[in-house]
Amino acid sequence: MTRIDNNAVSVRGLVKHYGDTKALDGVDLDVREGTVMGVLGPNGAGKTTLVRILSTLLKPDAGEATVAGYDVLRQPRQLRRVIGLTGQYASVDEKLPGWENLYMIGRLLDLPRKDARARADELLERFSLTEAAKRPASTYSGGMRRRLDLAASMIGHPQVLYLDEPTTGLDPRTRNEVWAEVKAMVGDGVTVLLTTQYMEEAEQLASELTVVDRGKVIANGRVEELKAKVGGRTLRVRPVDPLQVRPLAEMIDELGITGLASTTVDAESGTLLVPILSDEQLTAVVGAVTARGITISSITTELPSLDEVFLSLTGHRASAPQDATPADDRQEVAV
Ligand SMILES: Nc1ncnc2c1ncn2[C@@H]1O[C@H](COP(=O)(O)OP(=O)(O)O)[C@@H](O)[C@H]1O
Ligand SMILES: [Mg+2]
Repeated sequence: MTRIDNNAVSVRGLVKHYGDTKALDGVDLDVREGTVMGVLGPNGAGKTTLVRILSTLLKPDAGEATVAGYDVLRQPRQLRRVIGLTGQYASVDEKLPGWENLYMIGRLLDLPRKDARARADELLERFSLTEAAKRPASTYSGGMRRRLDLAASMIGHPQVLYLDEPTTGLDPRTRNEVWAEVKAMVGDGVTVLLTTQYMEEAEQLASELTVVDRGKVIANGRVEELKAKVGGRTLRVRPVDPLQVRPLAEMIDELGITGLASTTVDAESGTLLVPILSDEQLTAVVGAVTARGITISSITTELPSLDEVFLSLTGHRASAPQDATPADDRQEVAV
């Protein structure tokens, strides 16, 4: 097939219904070669359904999709040869040692024994698992397991890699490890389609975003563009004396500036976050802080978080399951 664009993934009008549930309801999406596309959406948005169709594990009801130029319906075998997939749930065999897992997948991908062995060694080294190579995967920590998953998805030198919620349920430190690995893989030139419920994850890894909700694309574009589209900003104020943070928050809330959402205190960093919608509001808040005579060590404005972006695009918060929310995302305490 002749490629007329440089899109590694191209999706047009994709539909998949389960009875009354519209898992995908006409999705369009393009992922440029060598980039990371974040597909952001809450539970049930249709992310895994999309990944399964793009992996040829599931047939769409309507629409078209090509990956590396191969059509999901007409060229499934060629397509499977150029993709890698790390699912939402661990896909390795628990009973087998890490090395055996990788070797077996290599053999399933038709690598000669010698090459499968070499690839297993190379990837264990690459994902810092050499020392654990001979232990059953069941003895691995969550982070090691996820690294083994990533290694498994890289065996066939994929051109396009799907990462379906790669860090859901991981603790913040392990999540950072996984992010570092994904960044290194992107540095090697692989195209990534990453699904996530975490705004921070999309922001860290993706250059472009497709926001999905209930089977529909509700926004797409570069991460920065999407944030700017929403308009609001956050003013971050840090008093010299951390004990002044709460009184300052109360004072600003009492100002009663129209449309000003309530402030939040970030206790860990001793800062106050004030969502603002206009330059006038910004000026009023800064003026009030000054009038109160509180000494400020820093005051900055930030673009809204993707959480706020989602809220303003959909009218409701992305509903990540409570137990799976990384601890980092919970540090802001409502005043
Ligand atoms: N095999 C299935 N049978 C029936 N409903 C399904 C099936 N797979 C997914 N769904 C439904 O389709 C919707 C999208 O699911 P999914 O693609 O798994 O979302 P996500 O991965 O974004 O959480 C959900 O409402 C889900 O319950
Ligand atoms: Mg899913």
